[in-house]
Amino acid sequence: MDPTGVITIIGLAWRGLICENLLSAIQADILKNVARNVTQKSLRKFPDDFLFGAATSSYQIEGAWNDGGKGWSMWDHLVRTDPDHIIDGTNGDVAANSYYFYEKDIAILKELGANVYRFSVSWPRILPFGRADYINPEGIAYYNTLIDRLLANNITPFLTIYHWELPQNLNEQGGWLTEDIVDWFGDYARVLFQNFGDRVKHWLTINEPSVHCNLGYAIGLHAPRIKSPGVKYYECGRHILLAHARAYHIYKNEFAHQGGKIGLALDSEMSMPSSNSPEDIQATEDCMMFHLGQFAHPIYSETGNYPQRFIDLIAEASARQGLPESRLRSFSQEQIDYIRGTGDFLSINHYSSNYVYRNASVVNMHEVPSLLDDAQLAFYKDPSWPSSFWIATYGPGLHKLLVYIKNNYNNPIIYITENGFASTTGLNDEGRVSYFREYLTAVLDAIDDGVNVKLYCAWSLMDNFEWTFGYSIRFGLYEIDENDPEKTRRPRKSALVFKEIVRTRTIDMDYNPDPYASSAINKKTSIVLLAAISLIKTVF
Ligand code: GAL
Repeated sequence: MDPTGVITIIGLAWRGLICENLLSAIQADILKNVARNVTQKSLRKFPDDFLFGAATSSYQIEGAWNDGGKGWSMWDHLVRTDPDHIIDGTNGDVAANSYYFYEKDIAILKELGANVYRFSVSWPRILPFGRADYINPEGIAYYNTLIDRLLANNITPFLTIYHWELPQNLNEQGGWLTEDIVDWFGDYARVLFQNFGDRVKHWLTINEPSVHCNLGYAIGLHAPRIKSPGVKYYECGRHILLAHARAYHIYKNEFAHQGGKIGLALDSEMSMPSSNSPEDIQATEDCMMFHLGQFAHPIYSETGNYPQRFIDLIAEASARQGLPESRLRSFSQEQIDYIRGTGDFLSINHYSSNYVYRNASVVNMHEVPSLLDDAQLAFYKDPSWPSSFWIATYGPGLHKLLVYIKNNYNNPIIYITENGFASTTGLNDEGRVSYFREYLTAVLDAIDDGVNVKLYCAWSLMDNFEWTFGYSIRFGLYEIDENDPEKTRRPRKSALVFKEIVRTRTIDMDYNPDPYASSAINKKTSIVLLAAISLIKTVF
C-alpha cells in the first residue's frame, strides 16, 4: 500500500476502522459489497410522523468553488496547495455541480419521496472573508432559491450551518483553535437565521465535532491538517461546544419568534465490550464517553460539563506524563451553564460499531499524548460483519446506540442525520441495500423500545467528493459519473429500495428491483436512433 493509503487507514482510526488485526481484512475487503441475508421480521410500519430524507454537504456537492462571489474555504486551500493528498488527485471544484444543478437534486429527492433534505451552507459562499461585515448577495440568493424550491416540493429543509468548510481567512487566524471563533461562528449563524429563518425551522449548528477535530486537528488527515491528538484535538472540541452554544443562544434570544428547533449533529459508533470482564465493560463505557459523551454530555446531561471519567482519565494521563495540569482545559461554571441544555433535539450520524477491550497490551499501543492513549483502550470490528472501506455493517449497533441515548440523555427527540454505506461505481449496490435494510430494521426495533427517533437521513443523496478519498469511494443513492459534464444522477438499486420503503413505510426484504432496467431501455432507444440517423445520412 502506498504511503497515502497507510496514512488514510491510520487517519480513520477513531472512526472505528482500526483494529490492528483487521488492517489486512480492510484492505482485502476494499471494493467488496457483501450482500447479507437479513432475517425477515414481521412486516412492521414506520409511524405516520416518522420522516425519511437524504443528506449532503456543501463542499462535497456544490462545485462553483470560485463562482458567485464565494471566498476560499480551508478545503479549497488544501486541494490547491497539496493536491496529492487527495487519493485520486481530484477536488470539489465542480463535484455534483449542485450550485447550478440544484433542480436535479430536487428532482431526485422528489423521486425518492423524501420528506427531508439535509444540506449545509458554505460559510465562505455567504461570508467570503469569514466575518459578517460583508455578506455575499449571490450566496444568499442561491440558498433562498434552494429553500424555496424544496418547500414548493413539500420537502422540509434541515440546514447544517457548518459542515467543515471553514473560510481560509479565518483558518489563518487560528480557526477552531482560537476562542475568537465563538464570535465568528455566532455572527455567521445570525446571518443565516436573519436570511433563511422565516422558512427554515430545523437547524444543525456543526457537523460531527468528534470527526472534525479528529481528522482535522488530531491526525492531520483533513483540512487544516494539524497533528496534535492529545492537545489541539481537545481545544478544537472545546471551541466547537462554545460556538455551538453561542449560535443556540443567539437563535433563542433573537429569533425565538421564528419558532424553529436547533441542535448539533453528533456522531457516534456503538461500543460493545469484547468480553464480560469488568475491564472490558469499563473500557466500553469509557469509549462511549470519549466519543459521544465528550460532546453530548455537556449539552444533554442534567449536570452539563464533560463526563467525569473523560475529565479524570485525561488528568491521570497528563499526570503520568509529568505535566503540571491536565491537557483538557476545564470549563468555568458559567461556561458549563452556557452550554448545558443547548439542544432542542439530538441529531446523530452513525455508520458502524466496535468491540472494545482494555488489557496490558493497550498501555503502549497509542501515540503519547493522544486521546486514545488517554482513554487506555482499543477496539475492533467483528470480521464477519460485511464491510466496505471503513464501514462494517452491524445494524443492531444502531438499535443499541439509540437505546443508549434514550437511557443516558433523558429520552430526547432523535434525528438520524447520516447513515450509509461505502461502495465504488456501479448501480447494483447490494451491500448498500442490505445495509439500509438492516439499519432501518434497527430503527424499527428502537421505536418498539420507546426511543423517540423521528427522522432517518441516508448519507448520501448522490455520489460526491468524499474528502481525501475524492471520488474513489461512493456513498450515493444516485450514481454520478464525475466526468459527465451534465452530472446525470442515476438511481442505484439502493435508491429504488429506499423509495419503496418510503412509499410503503415498511421494509420488504424481498423487493428486488433491477437498477439497469431503465438504462437498458435508454440503450435500446439510442441504438434505434443511431440506426435512424445513419439511414437518413445514407439516403441524403
Ligand atoms: C461523515 C461526514 C460526511 C461524509 C460521511 C461518509 O462523517 O459527515 O461528510 O463524508 O462521513 O464518509
